[in-house]
Amino acid sequence: MEVIVRPTNPEASWLAARLIAAAIRAKPHLVLGLATGRTMERLYAQLVQLHREEGLDFSLVRTFNLDEYIGLPATHPGSYRYYMNRHLFDHVNLDKRNTFLPDGMAGDVEAECERYERRIAEVGGIDLQLLGIGRAGHIGFNEPLSALRSRTRSKALTPMTVAENRGEFSKPEEMPRRAITMGVGTILEARQLLLLVTGETKAEILAKAVEGPITSMVSASAIQLHPSVHVICDAEAAARLNGREYYDWIFRNEPEWAPYR
Ligand code: GLP
Repeated sequence: MEVIVRPTNPEASWLAARLIAAAIRAKPHLVLGLATGRTMERLYAQLVQLHREEGLDFSLVRTFNLDEYIGLPATHPGSYRYYMNRHLFDHVNLDKRNTFLPDGMAGDVEAECERYERRIAEVGGIDLQLLGIGRAGHIGFNEPLSALRSRTRSKALTPMTVAENRGEFSKPEEMPRRAITMGVGTILEARQLLLLVTGETKAEILAKAVEGPITSMVSASAIQLHPSVHVICDAEAAARLNGREYYDWIFRNEPEWAPYR
């Protein structure tokens, strides 16, 4: 794992955007795992900017989102399909037929979860999975006690997650209490992980995820098991990290980071 701390939120997401852009340029058929949430809004705006200004080409990219609320149609502004259209898909040259999210309206949720796993396998697995972290330590909607080997399934959301996300709904009472999410095991199968974390409200949970013990109580701590992880955060989110000096030294000195310094 490498932890890169950038001074501000825009600089942290800009680095993440450039890493994603580099992955797309290196492999135009990239299978890109996507995340939602407030943290990602700036990152998606920056990817749109890279598309417009530098011609970043999404035409062959396939995308798989981590999760979707159960019971919301794609047309509902609270759904993650709507979020993705609004922040990214409508503004770049992605073929929407190559963009996948779990179907939150599926009649048979279990079958939908199996189908989603099959789809990921059919394209050869996810190359690069983008992740955010919730204050409950979740990646995707893998709430505390999610098995470290869990697969795509439906999960009940914790009261903390409901409190955190209900503000995103114009009618907060419409926020669903369940979601379909890739499992921790599904996420760990991606070839590379990129966790983007910003803001002081995430400082405590980020320190637990990165430097604490691996535990299903903090699903994000499972990324410690993965052989290829970049964690990118701003100074506020990094406030509780003990190893900050070492992480900064790596960024200043390792040749792979030279183009990004
Ligand atoms: C949401 C999503 C996660 C996201 C997290 C953080 O509930 N399911 O994938 O990473 O919570 O969201 P935010 O960036 O708004 O803090």
